[in-house]
Amino acid sequence: MTKHFINLDDLPNDDLQQIIDQAIALKKQHKAGEISNALKNKTLAMIFDKSSTRTRVSFEAGMTQLGGHALFLSDKDIQLGRGEPITDSAVVISSMVDCVMLRISSHKDINVFANHSSVPIINALSDESHPCQLLADMMTYQEHNGSIKGKTVAWIGDGNNMCHTYMQAAKAFGFTLNIATPKDYEPDQNFIDQYAEHVNLCADANSACKDSDLVVTDVWASMGQEAEQKKRELDFEDFQVNTNLMSQAKSDAVFMHCLPAHRGEEVSADVIDGKQSLVWSEAENRLHAQKALLLYLLS
Ligand code: CP
Ligand code: NVA
Repeated sequence: MTKHFINLDDLPNDDLQQIIDQAIALKKQHKAGEISNALKNKTLAMIFDKSSTRTRVSFEAGMTQLGGHALFLSDKDIQLGRGEPITDSAVVISSMVDCVMLRISSHKDINVFANHSSVPIINALSDESHPCQLLADMMTYQEHNGSIKGKTVAWIGDGNNMCHTYMQAAKAFGFTLNIATPKDYEPDQNFIDQYAEHVNLCADANSACKDSDLVVTDVWASMGQEAEQKKRELDFEDFQVNTNLMSQAKSDAVFMHCLPAHRGEEVSADVIDGKQSLVWSEAENRLHAQKALLLYLLS
């Protein structure tokens, strides 16, 4: 059966851990200048209807480094953007390539694409989740601080696609997730119900951060929510990750953000650019984590 990576929990926990261990090994091999042709003659189609820096560059460079090829397909250029049905697009594109990565707004559409695809599908961010980012985040934590099992992670800010995927990661990797969001910005109720055992919904940012090992945030207005920016700036003003908030966490706690970041909004410059921040490793690790994912899905 074709394996897809649409949500983190599509894969067994052991396989997720194996991908992360492989990613750490691939990173060392890459830094040592070792060449791989493991995906020679393989093509990855990358369909985007939203902007991207990290996702596009990491998948494209990753395919090159494995001896394969990546095709960048903006919805502005392909017939999908002019109304060709997603089902027809899935049948046709998957008949020509070995794997398809989609960054399209609707999570439901990714599932529809997968149901009509003959090759593995990767969710590269939807309105619901961002599983590729969590592979990189979990890899980064493991590299810098060892196993995340039994640790406490604080999610501060919007109950968005990244927050949902952290909830799934809490279950898969065995940590406790404290979530602090403004009222009416909580994660989706289905996620709260499904991951209740691994998640605490906290009254405020300070209590969520208390004694945590990792503090994570994301933009207050995600792509597609630009019209709500001003309102959100007011609603989220007590949810900035700054040195005061970081002082609630353990003294060796680290900070992560999937990027792009807005300094002075969800995070202060001194935190994101400070010594507790792992954001540059986290961004770089998208490359290595996704190379491991591609090898897993295509082998
Ligand atoms: N974190 C992330 O997915 O970044 P991009 O939007 O730049 O791909
Ligand atoms: N929550 C953000 C993540 C960007 C990588 C968004 O969806 O825009």
